[in-house]
Amino acid sequence: MKFKVIELKNIIESDLTNITNIIANHCSKSSMVLHLNGVLGAGKTTFVRAFLANLGYKGRVKSPTYSLIETYEIKDKNITVSHLDLYRLSRVDELYNLGIDDYIHSNSVMLIEWPGHGGELTPIADIAITINVISSELRSLVIKTKDLDVYRKLKQI
Ligand SMILES: Nc1ncnc2c1ncn2[C@@H]1O[C@H](COP(=O)(O)OP(=O)(O)OP(=O)(O)O)[C@@H](O)[C@H]1O
Ligand SMILES: [Mg+2]
Repeated sequence: MKFKVIELKNIIESDLTNITNIIANHCSKSSMVLHLNGVLGAGKTTFVRAFLANLGYKGRVKSPTYSLIETYEIKDKNITVSHLDLYRLSRVDELYNLGIDDYIHSNSVMLIEWPGHGGELTPIADIAITINVISSELRSLVIKTKDLDVYRKLKQI
């Protein structure tokens, strides 16, 4: 099945609650890999924070700029979320050494910033999001998904 593409325009930060809610609800059903594209400061980490908040995570969410990966256990939902930032990846085999395939299992969500920096070793996206900066407060989100349910719900925003 082909990806469906949807563009959400004039998105302010608080709109991310609604948007990530739709995607987070979907991920409780299966495992999922999500790519987050966009320039420095576009809002990729901000998106992940909203996503985790939706799953009920209350702790601090650090940007994995140096650690490359941070993981979060959502105990009551039995979901593991891993958040990767591949910006500083110097060689793609670093990604291999992280053993990221082990993070992809049922009830897991992987959100990857700068997925292109991992080359062919980056896990393939189920949902790919590009965040474009319109102004200091406004973004547009281009979301590609194969899931019709997610697509339909996002269209209603
Ligand atoms: N509509 C919006 N959506 C997302 N972030 C917004 C929005 N409006 C303002 N911001 C602000 O933009 C900044 C985005 O920073 P963030 O760290 O999320 O970017 P990033 O894409 O992860 O950058 P990097 O590539 O450096 O990791 C935050 O300070 C956030 O508060
Ligand atoms: Mg970031």
